[in-house]
Amino acid sequence: MCGIIGYIGEKQAYPIVINGLKKLEYRGYDSYGICVLDNEKVFLKKRVGQILEEGESEFNGCVSIGHDRWASTGGVCEKNAHPHEYNGFYVVHNGIIENYKELKEDLIKKGHIFNSDTDTEVIAHLISEEFNGNLEDAARKALKKIIGSYGIAVVSPKDKDKIVIAKMSSPIIIGICKDGHIVASDPSAVIDYTKQIITLDDGEMAVLRKDSYMILKEKKIETIDWESDSISKGDYAHYMLKEIMEESKVIESATMGRLLDNNVKLGGLESSKERLEEANKIFLIGCGTGYYAAKTGEYLMEEIGGIDAEAHMGSEIRYRNPRLDRNEAAIFVSQSGETADNLAALKKFKDAGVLTLGVTNAIGSTQTRETEGGVYTRCGPEIAVASTKAFIGQITVLTMISIFLGRQRNLSEKKAEEVIKELRDIPFKAELILNNREEINNIVQKYLRFKDFWFIGRKFNYPIAMEGALKLKEISYIHAEGTPGGELKHGPLALIDENCPTVALCPRDSVYDKMLSNIEEVKARNGKVIAIASEGDNKIKEIVDDVIYIPKTIEALTPILTAIPLHLFAYYFALALKRDIDKPRNLAKSVTVE
Ligand code: G6P
Repeated sequence: MCGIIGYIGEKQAYPIVINGLKKLEYRGYDSYGICVLDNEKVFLKKRVGQILEEGESEFNGCVSIGHDRWASTGGVCEKNAHPHEYNGFYVVHNGIIENYKELKEDLIKKGHIFNSDTDTEVIAHLISEEFNGNLEDAARKALKKIIGSYGIAVVSPKDKDKIVIAKMSSPIIIGICKDGHIVASDPSAVIDYTKQIITLDDGEMAVLRKDSYMILKEKKIETIDWESDSISKGDYAHYMLKEIMEESKVIESATMGRLLDNNVKLGGLESSKERLEEANKIFLIGCGTGYYAAKTGEYLMEEIGGIDAEAHMGSEIRYRNPRLDRNEAAIFVSQSGETADNLAALKKFKDAGVLTLGVTNAIGSTQTRETEGGVYTRCGPEIAVASTKAFIGQITVLTMISIFLGRQRNLSEKKAEEVIKELRDIPFKAELILNNREEINNIVQKYLRFKDFWFIGRKFNYPIAMEGALKLKEISYIHAEGTPGGELKHGPLALIDENCPTVALCPRDSVYDKMLSNIEEVKARNGKVIAIASEGDNKIKEIVDDVIYIPKTIEALTPILTAIPLHLFAYYFALALKRDIDKPRNLAKSVTVE
């Protein structure tokens, strides 16, 4: 969480840094701050709340650092916003300094006075203690005393014309521009200016100047293929709606060039082919929406891939002790590729000799660099905090990986052909659902008075029920839970009455009849039911209160089509309640704290 950005070059820095802060606001939006250096003069500004300004130059100067905050240590207020300053040393920081209390106590004993409640401020104090004329030397010595995670950028009028940056478990990239250099938490903040980036590794430090950069070791320059307009809202009111409306294109782009007649071609798995063939179990690991994609993957791997599969949350599995061996593989599912709990789990699996692979959206992210292979979801940048199109990309890619594994095992050519043929048609079917969005909006209007929702599904659609509930709660702040239809009778049914509607996922599949029985159970308790059903299912219309129809498809691909209306359902619900859809309270997109 938290976004950091900085610019040093020939241009005025203020507008560039404000623009970058806006692009990174999805990482944190409790408060923001910026400082600009013009020789000895320093302009410092901190504000609580989101960035409303347009970025007109408020101060001249060609060196600047800025920060979007997601509060972790210290409440939301101006004094806790970054940059933090002590004795002319200005620091922005993304991460957590675990030993800050001890360091702070020592510094206070030495006479230091602190102005904030943050962990970050100790960095500025430590640098000041170590400073002997050279900023990078002081930063290096200061960071040696720190335990925890950080991506930092430091400037000072005492050693001007440079930005010192360093990374440990929090992402940092350098953008190489014609007129200077940009430092940022991720590429979305630099693509308006350059596509040439360098990704810093853990433990590395760099010094950026107007016309040079210095890193401790030689680094490869990568080219990002995202377009600048992919980070604008276009004509949409919210990024979330824009991203949902891109879901059919996402399936197309995730499958493009990867579907053969009866197999798939996934370049990122080539070098792991033999180990995957020998693997006897697949772990799938993710957090939040990424976990629900992983859970969908569990069913896909088992059914299509013909291999034992287990989905886990990164935040849990990292602390457990599963028996791991070299004959297993683990797939890490993440949009950002920076989620701290996933990365900690990744290390654990890698250390145990398990083959580690990523299903990742963000190019060059830590997950892609730390795994031995993997498949990009190719969704383009996702800005809204609640993940939608990335989820669709993830389950599409997991379906393809299942086919790959299946073909190494018992999946027949005919069966593979059937899934692939259907996968080719899915973008059009997704488009039909998106075109039907007004009808979903109309249904939402009937349910706005309810404060609790239950989502049910079985088999492939059980994880989708959880995803639907998560989406509704995170952006509309309405209580919602997702459970397997078969579990209703073991507890949740006690909560069902006329005040708690149920969203039932019941496409025509192998568990359809069982889902109908669950719907009857709800109706018998006066519960309202909104069904997501296959087109042509007239029977269901007679039983439920409202139906959202989706096109017919094979069972294993129903999750892609049932998830889309649930994303729209949550969006329109939050819209009607006038919530801050792209930036829901208390959350952040890239969760780099543990
Ligand atoms: C946060 C976001 C979610 C996302 C989760 C995992 O909680 O708000 O939308 O699903 O992180 O993020 P990842 O980048 O690993 O997919």
